[in-house]
Amino acid sequence: MQITIEMKPYASLETDAIVTPVFEAEDPVQGRVAELDQLLGGLLKRLATGGELTGKNLEFTLLHAPAGLKATRLLLVGAGKREQFNGATLRKVAGAALRSLKAKSVRNFAFLAGGTLPTAEGAQALAEGFIASDFETDKYKTDKKEKKIESITLVGFPEGEVAVAEKGLAAGRIIAEAQNFTRDLVNEPSNKLTPRILAEKAEAMAKEAGLAVDILDEKRIADLKMGALLSVAQGSVEPPRMIVVTYTPVNPKPGAPVIGLVGKAVTFDTGGISIKPADGMEKMKYDMAGGATMLGTIRALAALKPGVKVVCVVPSTENMPGGKAQKPGDIQTAMSGKTIEVLNTDAEGRLILADAITYAKQLGVTHIVDAATLTGAIVVALANVNVGVFGSNQEFTDKLLASAKAAGEKMWQLPMDDEYREFIKGSFADIQNIGSGKGGGSITGAWFIREFAGDTPWIHLDIAGTAWNDDAKPWLAKGPTGVALRTLVHLVQSY
Ligand code: BES
Ligand code: MN
Ligand code: ZN
Repeated sequence: MQITIEMKPYASLETDAIVTPVFEAEDPVQGRVAELDQLLGGLLKRLATGGELTGKNLEFTLLHAPAGLKATRLLLVGAGKREQFNGATLRKVAGAALRSLKAKSVRNFAFLAGGTLPTAEGAQALAEGFIASDFETDKYKTDKKEKKIESITLVGFPEGEVAVAEKGLAAGRIIAEAQNFTRDLVNEPSNKLTPRILAEKAEAMAKEAGLAVDILDEKRIADLKMGALLSVAQGSVEPPRMIVVTYTPVNPKPGAPVIGLVGKAVTFDTGGISIKPADGMEKMKYDMAGGATMLGTIRALAALKPGVKVVCVVPSTENMPGGKAQKPGDIQTAMSGKTIEVLNTDAEGRLILADAITYAKQLGVTHIVDAATLTGAIVVALANVNVGVFGSNQEFTDKLLASAKAAGEKMWQLPMDDEYREFIKGSFADIQNIGSGKGGGSITGAWFIREFAGDTPWIHLDIAGTAWNDDAKPWLAKGPTGVALRTLVHLVQSY
């Protein structure tokens, strides 16, 4: 999909459709919309007076063969109140417009982009909105729809700001394409994406992006005594992998941190011997979303070239019941030397993250962010709206929350009082992998991981509720969302 910037007057645009946001107001026919209204001989004013054009969020008004324009259609998309308008709204408006026009077999359109947000920010949000919305999950359908948006023209940026817009557009493209790379991995079913295949795909991505890559196979994992990862993997005939991808800046910022991005990649989570109910189990193919997010993030960073070193560590395994599977009550020794009582084999994400974090520290990271579809409890707490955020260092956590805000992703911090730490004190080993208290399931999960981060500033993102959309949104297909990637890219770039 081609996205270009042009400075032409609206009336002369020869395209399948012109799209413009409309702000909600007493009189929504203002600014750009008023200019269009002039060309259309007052039609928009009449629609507004009649109550058909209000600018309410995602209201769609589609006009065919608009007199006064060369374009075949004019699509007016409600953008809500101007005071509340931001990058997140613009992404949704852009995405929803693309998906609705694509469904009508439109092949190209012009978007009246200028003047709604600062130019660089606006161009980036538009690229992100368009490219993310264009992603479809029909890879395995044999009767694919041949509907495709071929090109989009962005018009109306202020004179003299084309170079700035181009820069924003390029960054948005890199980020959204990385997000779609992540979503494509998450969408793969477990028979098409085993830990070995994920490792191969990570290796191919790294080579293409110019990143260093090291894939640890089951032998090296055993030599390094990663007992927690191995305990989960032992129930499966598919061997585990520890995927390490490293970005080293050409001009490192002096005193910059080394950021570890650790992501859970359970390619299928049956629960193991503590097996999950059959209903809805198919969704557990997305239990590798944390790992896919980190791989997508480092892919984007390779192109954006920040001055900060980043090490991405992705532990990958299946969680299966089997003759060799671990059983409730088993005691395992993690790579760090800590002993773990596995009271529930379905609390496997924290086990594999434990060894990945120990290894990341050994590789020299100074700060860690992990992302994981860790707990069903986070869905109870925050539904599919907010990512759950946990941290051991408030300054670092505040930095991430600021990045989330800037990137337009909803994240909410949860508490980590010492009282919750008591819930995972072991009876027969150092710690146990589920809480013995009642409730607080996401927090005890976070505490377990924190035990392995130790003094290294650490943040945990529980994306179990947000990595997968059960229903399509007007601006996004049903399925994998690629959540947290934009925030993480922003976080690294903010150093
Ligand atoms: N992968 C699941 C968490 C999950 C649940 C993700 C629902 C997405 C949707 C995780 O491995 C798990 O099974 N967690 C258990 C932990 C429990 C045994 C303490 C859970 O949440 O039930
Ligand atoms: Mn599980
Ligand atoms: Zn899991």
